[in-house]
Amino acid sequence: MPEQITITRPDDWHLHLRDGAALAAVLPHSARQFARAIVMPNLRPPVASVEQALAYRRRIVDALPAGASFEPLMTLYLTDTTPPAEMKRARDAGVLAIKLYPAGATTNSDAGVTDLKRVAGVLEAAEREGIALLVHGEVTDLDVDVFDREAVFIDRHLVGLRRSFPGLKIVLEHVTTREGAQYVAEAGEKTAATITAHHLLYNRNALFQGGIRPHWYCLPILKRELHRLALMKAATSASGRFFLGTDSAPHAASLKENACGCAGCYTAFHALELYAEAFDGAGALDRLEAFASIDGAAFYGLPRNAGTVTLEKRPWTVPESLAFGDGELKPLGGGQTLSWAIAAATVEEEGSRP
Ligand code: NCD
Ligand code: ZN
Repeated sequence: MPEQITITRPDDWHLHLRDGAALAAVLPHSARQFARAIVMPNLRPPVASVEQALAYRRRIVDALPAGASFEPLMTLYLTDTTPPAEMKRARDAGVLAIKLYPAGATTNSDAGVTDLKRVAGVLEAAEREGIALLVHGEVTDLDVDVFDREAVFIDRHLVGLRRSFPGLKIVLEHVTTREGAQYVAEAGEKTAATITAHHLLYNRNALFQGGIRPHWYCLPILKRELHRLALMKAATSASGRFFLGTDSAPHAASLKENACGCAGCYTAFHALELYAEAFDGAGALDRLEAFASIDGAAFYGLPRNAGTVTLEKRPWTVPESLAFGDGELKPLGGGQTLSWAIAAATVEEEGSRP
């Protein structure tokens, strides 16, 4: 009998699902692994209004495979012109959060915020209505080194935001540095962070292993080993404020294997197995359930999922390529062997929740 671990069905608190044929290609992967996911709004055009978020939610639900049980949790793309009144509409519609992309920071962020002063009114309304602020925490100044952009963002912007809106829930998305982990650990109960599997498994050497490796290129970029170790420590700590967010970001292989390749790693296909690999490597598999299935729901004030997922220690090889509309999608680490596999999953029975 292989070694096994059974955890409460997990959630992905940071996911890119895209739209159309891409959505149809990737959604089954997330629905197989996760009960819920916070869906990022960086489509073209961005999902900036409650009306757009509800329409996008409907397209996601319509694209689910028959019998799947998966709940998309919606976010709004914060722009310089988001009306503060949209926050009350968001709350009434069950939209969970707004996403702050500094303009130019990452994929489809050109409609993002150019100056935080411009969105002070919206943030005040979000704080009042209980809408969380999800932050892509990187400055975009070309004179700041790409490896320092997160730490500089924290100093220049996050510390001030935290002070100005003490009641606002803030999530530093895909934290990648020791400085970021330390800031979140000390910032109090309304501040949390998501951590990707790739930032737990790899340091920046992975980008240059024997040649340039575009599938390891994402934003924020992979960092030094000391940062990976700090993230691993945060993810396995008992603080309750570091939780799972894959930042799985599908791009057609042709757009990544390109002279100007897109940022984003595709990990939704094998997310839980990647996290299990990282936690096992750190001798902390007993911390996986809190990170993947408990702490995020508690932070957002949502119920814990009822089903379970069982992982077993059984080597399997990640496929090199997956179908992606007219193109192909290359999962991170395709062709490599992972040591944990999903063995079984249960979903709560209809009506079994009291
Ligand atoms: C994301 C994408 O492709 O949408 N890319 C990435 O490298 N993570 C955007 C983001 O979350 O920064
Ligand atoms: Zn993302």
